[in-house]
Amino acid sequence: MTEILKANSAGIDRAVHLLKNGKLVAFPTETVYGLGALATNSEAVKAVFQAKGRPSDNPLIVHVANIEMVERYAKNIPKVFYQLVAQFWPGSLTLILEARDLPDEVTAGLSSVAFRMPDSELTLDLIEQLGTPIVGPSANTSGKPSPTQAAHVYHDLNGKIAAILDGGTAEVGVESTVVDLTGRTSLILRPGKVTLSDLKVILPELQYDGHLVSDEEVPKSPGMKYQHYSPSVPVFMVNQSEIAKLADQADLAIVADASLLLEFKQAKTFELSKKHSIEMATHNLYQALRQFDQSEIAAIFVEVFEGENATAYMNRLQKASGGKRIVDYQQ
Ligand code: TXA
Ligand code: MG
Repeated sequence: MTEILKANSAGIDRAVHLLKNGKLVAFPTETVYGLGALATNSEAVKAVFQAKGRPSDNPLIVHVANIEMVERYAKNIPKVFYQLVAQFWPGSLTLILEARDLPDEVTAGLSSVAFRMPDSELTLDLIEQLGTPIVGPSANTSGKPSPTQAAHVYHDLNGKIAAILDGGTAEVGVESTVVDLTGRTSLILRPGKVTLSDLKVILPELQYDGHLVSDEEVPKSPGMKYQHYSPSVPVFMVNQSEIAKLADQADLAIVADASLLLEFKQAKTFELSKKHSIEMATHNLYQALRQFDQSEIAAIFVEVFEGENATAYMNRLQKASGGKRIVDYQQ
C-alpha cells in the first residue's frame, strides 16, 4: 500500500526519511505531480523507470530548490541560464545544460541534463531538507495523461511507490516548457505555460524544435516521440460548430466550454472552461481525459483552442487524440 502524506511538516519529514532510504515518493508541483527519487541514487532512479513502465532511453528532469544544486551537477553554464531563472524560477520552465556527476540512469546516457525549480513551497521545502535534488518524471504510468491530483497518482501507482505527498490539485495542469540551452541555437523541445514570446525577450533567437512545426522531424527530446497523454478511449478534436452538431448519446463524452454544453442531456459532459479561458481549459484537460477513460464511453470529444497561450494545451490534445478530428469518427 502506498502512503498518502499530508501537506505539513510531518508529511515532509516522512517523505525525507523515505527518499533518503532509496524509496519513491510522488510530490506536487504547479504543473503536474512528479515521481521523486534521490537523483544521486542510481538504484532508486532505476526503480522510477520500473514503476512508470518508462522506456530507459527517456531522461529525467532534476528538481532543485536552489541554484547551487544546479551548479553542483552542471558545467559550462551559459549566462542566459541565470537571466532565465531570475525571471521564471520557481516555475514551469525546464532548462537543459551540460551534465556532470549524475548517474547515467538520470540522463539516459546523454551528456546533458534537464533542471527545474518547481513552484511548490511544499516540494521546495522537501528538496531543501534533503539537501540533494530529486528526479521527477510525471507520476503517471507511462503513456497515460500526467497526474494533476494525488488521486491520479494513486490510481496509476498504488503499491508500486512508497508514498504520495498530497499538495492538492496542480494549478497549471500540463508539464513545463522544456528549453535546451546546450546547442548553438536554443530550442523549445516541449511547449508549456512559459511561451515562445515570453522567452524571446531574453532569448531572441529561440526556436521550436523541428518536430513541433513539422511531422517529418524527429524530436530532440526523447520523451516527445512516444504516444502520450492518452486514455484508452479514442479522443477526437472538435471545434465549436462541430460540438453543436454532436449526437446526444449516453456513450459519448463532451469536454468543452460551459456555454457549449447546455443542450446535451444524455451525453456525459465536462465543463472544460468558462468564457473560453485557456488557463482553465489547460488546468482541466488531464482530469477530463482521466475521468472519461472508462469502458462505457465510446469516444471523447475535446474542444480545440487557438492562440499562442493555447500552444501547450493543443500539443497535449494533439497527442492524446493522435491528431483525430471529427471526420475520423465513425459510429
Ligand atoms: O512539469 C514537468 O516538467 C513535470 C513535473 C513533475 O516537474 N515533469 C515532467 O517530466 O514532465 P517528464 O519526465 O514526464 O518529462 C521530461 C521531458 C521528457 O520529454 C524528456 O525526454 C525531456 O524532458 N528531457 C529530459 N532530459 C532531457 C535531455 N537531457 N535532453 C532532451 N530532453 C530531455
Ligand atoms: Mg511525463
